[in-house]
Amino acid sequence: MTIARVSSPEAFRAALSDAREQRRKVAFVPTMGALHEGHLALVREGRRLVGAAGIVAASVFVNPTQFGPNEDLARYPRDLDGDAAKLEGAGCELLFAPSESTMYPDGERTRVRVERLTAGLCGPHRPGHFEGVATIVSKLFSLVGASYAIFGKKDYQQLAVIRRLATDMLFPVEVVGHPIVREASGLAMSSRNAYLSADERHRALSLSRGLRLAYAAYASGERKATVLTGLVRAEVEPVTDSIDYVDVTDADSLVPFEGDASVGSRALVAIACRIGKTRLLDNVVLGEDPATSLSGSP
Ligand code: PAF
Repeated sequence: MTIARVSSPEAFRAALSDAREQRRKVAFVPTMGALHEGHLALVREGRRLVGAAGIVAASVFVNPTQFGPNEDLARYPRDLDGDAAKLEGAGCELLFAPSESTMYPDGERTRVRVERLTAGLCGPHRPGHFEGVATIVSKLFSLVGASYAIFGKKDYQQLAVIRRLATDMLFPVEVVGHPIVREASGLAMSSRNAYLSADERHRALSLSRGLRLAYAAYASGERKATVLTGLVRAEVEPVTDSIDYVDVTDADSLVPFEGDASVGSRALVAIACRIGKTRLLDNVVLGEDPATSLSGSP
């Protein structure tokens, strides 16, 4: 089936309400484009959730309000035709690709803020980022209506923020988290991996390697927060250019376990660092994710 493309919010909303009138379930995959296997896995999960009779829609929009002034908005990879072809190949039937002035028309003044969950991890390092994400996702959810919306767990904090947003704003959307998709090497897939040179790509493997060490230590009974983060740091520090954080937090509240505190029965170990100029994220949930979640797909 050929993918239909729409760029106006009205046409997107109308196409999905028509589908619902025909009793078709809706799955929605919001993206910023530069699509890779990780995104396509979200599309396939959408198809699994709504079945052959449902409709799977995606959006491609590089959202300016979630980039800081010194971030990579201008050079963020863009390839709408390539993305449309990949989405179609994965079984997506409808693509919403709006312009910036459509999503942020002159005079718009509204921002959406989710508190507490944004206080730690990436929050302090990317001021305004989650406000930008929450704002654009609110706009998208208001168009999509009752649906499943699927997000990758690589952006674990984003997923937590969006779950809270959907609950608090009464959006009729079931937010679904999808396991991190990794390259065969173990590197978590990300659109920003395209920036990495061969040497940087090699150094980037230290993230999943460090997380594997923390995972193994936890599995052998280690519970001290500093020991777990220390294992990740020891692996990553020698090869990264800077580290924003290596934290162990409660998997739901995202409140960090400090120092010698004993981590709980479900704990997020998360890292954000720079290799060259590229900011990379990775994480694992101890006590929840299977060991295979840190190895690459063959
Ligand atoms: O994860 C992303 O690609 C973006 O943050 C999202 C959720 C599409 C909002 O712009």
